Parts: sequence; structure tokens; C-alpha cells
Amino acid sequence: MEKEYLKWFLEARFGMFIHWGIYAIPARGEWVKQQESIPEGHYQAYFDTFNPIHYDPAAWARLARAAGMKYAVMTAKHHDGFCLFDSQYTDYKATNTPAKRDLIREYVDAFRAEGLKVGFYYSLLDWHHPDYPVAGDRIHPYRNKPEYQDHRGNLPRYVEYMHHQVEELLTNYGKIDVIWFDFSYDEMRGEAWRATELVQMVRRLQPGIVIDNRLGGNIKAREPEIYAGDFASPEQIIPPKGVTNEAGEPIPWEACITLNDHWGYAAWDKNWKSPRTVVRVLVECVSKGGNLLLNVGPTAKGEIPAECVEILSQVGKWMHRNGDSIYGCGHATMERPEWGRWTCKGNRLYAHILERGIGPINLRGLEGKIAYARLLADDSEIRLERPWNAAEYPDDAFLSFPTAELPDEWDTVVELVLK
Ligand code: GLC
Repeated sequence: MEKEYLKWFLEARFGMFIHWGIYAIPARGEWVKQQESIPEGHYQAYFDTFNPIHYDPAAWARLARAAGMKYAVMTAKHHDGFCLFDSQYTDYKATNTPAKRDLIREYVDAFRAEGLKVGFYYSLLDWHHPDYPVAGDRIHPYRNKPEYQDHRGNLPRYVEYMHHQVEELLTNYGKIDVIWFDFSYDEMRGEAWRATELVQMVRRLQPGIVIDNRLGGNIKAREPEIYAGDFASPEQIIPPKGVTNEAGEPIPWEACITLNDHWGYAAWDKNWKSPRTVVRVLVECVSKGGNLLLNVGPTAKGEIPAECVEILSQVGKWMHRNGDSIYGCGHATMERPEWGRWTCKGNRLYAHILERGIGPINLRGLEGKIAYARLLADDSEIRLERPWNAAEYPDDAFLSFPTAELPDEWDTVVELVLK
């Protein structure tokens, strides 16, 4: 019953989110214009001086691939309205900054060349476009400015612009694998965006594309709107039990998570998650049937912060050894074990051992069901045995783990092949 075009997405499990724009210059996150109500005139200075001399998307793509990521989603336009791509419908774009070129095209080419699937994030909100309504809007940067109290904009005209830009993005850059609309709120949802028509156009231009769920529909409904999207997009949280629809069936989801506490570059935010945490979060997502879209916020000069590079490289080393327990895997039917988590693929179970405990490792209910067990990192055998003191647990199988401590403290993976 799963949609065929979602197959790659569900197998990929791990992707890179990239938030990049002229807000990298103030370097206080992508909402800075809104949070500080920065006047257009001042924000313009960022546009006039945006010059990413070190932008090397091939290096970003290599980093993503080495980290074990299979796809990427980059901001073609964020809420501030600035376009990294060369749109014929606006002057507010990278080609008119000192960068002087279409930064999206280079991204697409580089990531494709590295064998990664390519996606666009596109903001439905627009804090630059004169037709976007300010009066009555709960979010707009200038909502409290007296001179904007009567600014009703022209929503139909803005939506026309928005549709045109989506059409450009899905026409001018070859095959695009993901479109990530962001976001809907209050009355600004569904048909306010002409969402049915928008999605029909998206599907016509890019038949196999995967669409997120932020156009304002209800993806959990028994009969979701056509624009409800292909996957749920929990943000900065991992759903406790995965995501199910109103009929109780699991549905595709992708958690988007930052590496520090900001999406866009934030020069002073050093609250980095450790590679160990990233690995465990990824495993948690997969064990609950979801994907992880992990964010980086490159600098105005075009570089992914060194800390991110280091974290992702470390994650990549773990993925090199243990990727088989991630790609194409989903949740197992068994309950979460005390020592860690399960992921599963066909007749293979992956025991993600996060806590060594003592003695043999208990595999509940699996007695007689396992053909063999191996340490996934190097395919070395882990013996199954029935210890003398396990007589009271006849339904359980036991791994005789050879060491008192785990060889991989982040997550030691044992592959169990079922009979
Ligand atoms: C949000 C934010 C945002 C970020 C994003 C990522 O709702 O508005 O800045 O791009 O979602 O999920």
C-alpha cells in the first residue's frame, strides 16, 4: 500500500537539511529579520554584500555522502523572501548580489554528481514581497509597525508569484526528489495557498517527487486532502511512538533536527550535539519507522561550520560500519528492549545495544528463531547460548557478549539473521 515513489525516501533514512541565505551575515538565525524587526533598508545591506567566496557545494555533497546521508534539502527561499535561485519573477535573488550566480543550480549539480537525491525547501511565507499581507498577520516582522497597520497586501497576487516560483524550481533544475513547503498557520493554509492546484502542478512537473505536509492539510486523516503531503515533519522532537494516522496505521515521517540550536548560521551558538547523540537520534528515528533530516547552517562565506564537519565525519565513520542497520530498515514488531533499540529489515534484526548491563544480553521471545548473530561492524560472530542461569526464561534467546564493556559506546550493533 506504500506509494512506489516513496520507496527511495523510506530506504534512505538520513538526509541533510541546509539553511542558507543572506541571514548568515547577521548570523543570528534565519528568523532574525522577524525577531528584531529589522527595517528593509538595513536588511538590504546583507543582500548588497552577500559574497560567498568559499561556496563549494561539491565539498558539501562529499561531506553529506561521507556522513552516510542519502539526500539533501536546501532552502531555495526562506521566510525573508531572498532567493538563492535565479527566478525571473523577482530581483531579490542571488544573481543580483555580489555572488552573481544561481547558487541553487550549483547545489543541484554537485549533490546529484555525488549520487544524492536533491530537494528544495520553499517558504510559503514571504517577508519581503510587497503583496504579502502584514496587517492582521501574527508573524510578519513589521506587524507592530504603525506604518504597516493598513498594509493588506494582495494575497492572490502573492500566491500567483509563489506558484510561478515553484514552477520555475521544478522546471529549470532537472529531476527534483523532494519539495519541502514551509509553513501554514492561522488562515494561511490549504486553499489560501491554492494548495490543490499547487500540488497538481508539482505532481505534473515532477511525477515522482516527495512532498512534505506543511501546506495545511491533515496527513493523519482517513482521507487526507490531495495537498496533505507524503510524510509528517515533526520538528526538533522525535515522536515517542513514531507517527500513525487516525486509523492507527504507521505513516511516513521525517524528523528535522538542528545540530546546534539554530537552522540558519548562528555565529555564537556552540551548543553542538555530539556525534554520539546524532547516531542515537538517527537510530531512534529508524527504530520508530522515520527519517532524520539533520540541519547545517553554512556561513555567509559559504562554508559549513567546522564543528558540523567534524560531527558529520564522526557520524560517517559509524555509518560506514553500521549503515546496514539503518538503510532500508524500519521498526521491528518487538517492544523496545532494555538494552537499546531494534531496527529491522526483512529477515534481519539489528540489536542496537546502547547499554551493556551485565551477563548475557536478553533477546526476548527469540529462542529458536535466530540462525546466527554477528557484530555488524566487522561481521565477527557473536555466540548465542543458553546460560545455566537462564533456565527460567525459556522463550528468550541470549547473546553471549564477550566483553564487559561495549566495543562501540555510541551504539554497538549486532545483526541477527532469523531462521
Ligand atoms: C520552521 C521555521 C524555520 C525552519 C523550519 C525547519 O517552521 O520557520 O525557520 O526553516 O521550520 O523545519
